[in-house]
Amino acid sequence: MLPDQSARLSAAWEAVAPRIGDPVEVALVLGSGLGQLAEAVEDPVFVPYGEIPDFPVSTAPMHEGRFVIGRLHGRRVALMQGRVHLYEGWSAQDIALPVRLMRRMGADALVATNAAGALDPALKPGVPMLIEDHLNFTGVNPLTGPNDDALGPRFPDMSRAWDPDLRALALAAADAAGEDLPSGIYCGIAGPSLETSAERRWMRSIGAHAVGMSTVLEAVTAVHCGMRCVGLSAITNAADGGPEQQPDTIEEVLENAAHAGRRIAAILAELLPKLP
Ligand code: HPA
Repeated sequence: MLPDQSARLSAAWEAVAPRIGDPVEVALVLGSGLGQLAEAVEDPVFVPYGEIPDFPVSTAPMHEGRFVIGRLHGRRVALMQGRVHLYEGWSAQDIALPVRLMRRMGADALVATNAAGALDPALKPGVPMLIEDHLNFTGVNPLTGPNDDALGPRFPDMSRAWDPDLRALALAAADAAGEDLPSGIYCGIAGPSLETSAERRWMRSIGAHAVGMSTVLEAVTAVHCGMRCVGLSAITNAADGGPEQQPDTIEEVLENAAHAGRRIAAILAELLPKLP
């Protein structure tokens, strides 16, 4: 039997509640190379994951591993400066815990960001992509195990996992920021090995536009606990698996994530004030 996730959440909440001040409105997760977005948070309170009982801590490169709670573009936010991933050895339930905790802090929207490889050759490294929908190819689900009906339903609907209204707001925000924002389907894998070229061509053939090692489990958790999701991928490398496919390097990924991250920051500056 899996450990009681509701008890874990309660223990985490008791530890953070006295530190965070007023309820938050929006939860944000910052992906690889996007951590600098946290620097814009005003009056920040920092809560390192390691100070929360039974909490997963980030070990991935450039993932700071803390909540930053404060005000961003006029909204009360809880921001994850660094997330946790399956490839670090964390379970799907570990990955769910920080999302549920931000829900408990008051957030009713989740803004997810990540670094992703472009399966679609039309997506160029350095551009942002709006997540229209996802494919969960991690092989796991954060809702496996006993369901606490107080958290969410046993069989949550995922037909509109990436909220159509928030996506429309994101497109309008990109327009206002003067940024091109193509939409696409994000395929989430467990990693840490990158996909083979055959896997990439297959993912493209079944309709995915970008691939990465995060986000899908957070989105399933967020929808389960009643949050609306919107997501932006930083396209960091060409991953079409064609004859010209180059080997991927973490340096290239982080450099392009920084380029796309500046554009994502500009879009978020327009989007956050308009979120319901
Ligand atoms: N594959 C998986 N994850 C990634 C990639 C990729 O090509 N680029 C950035 N994260």
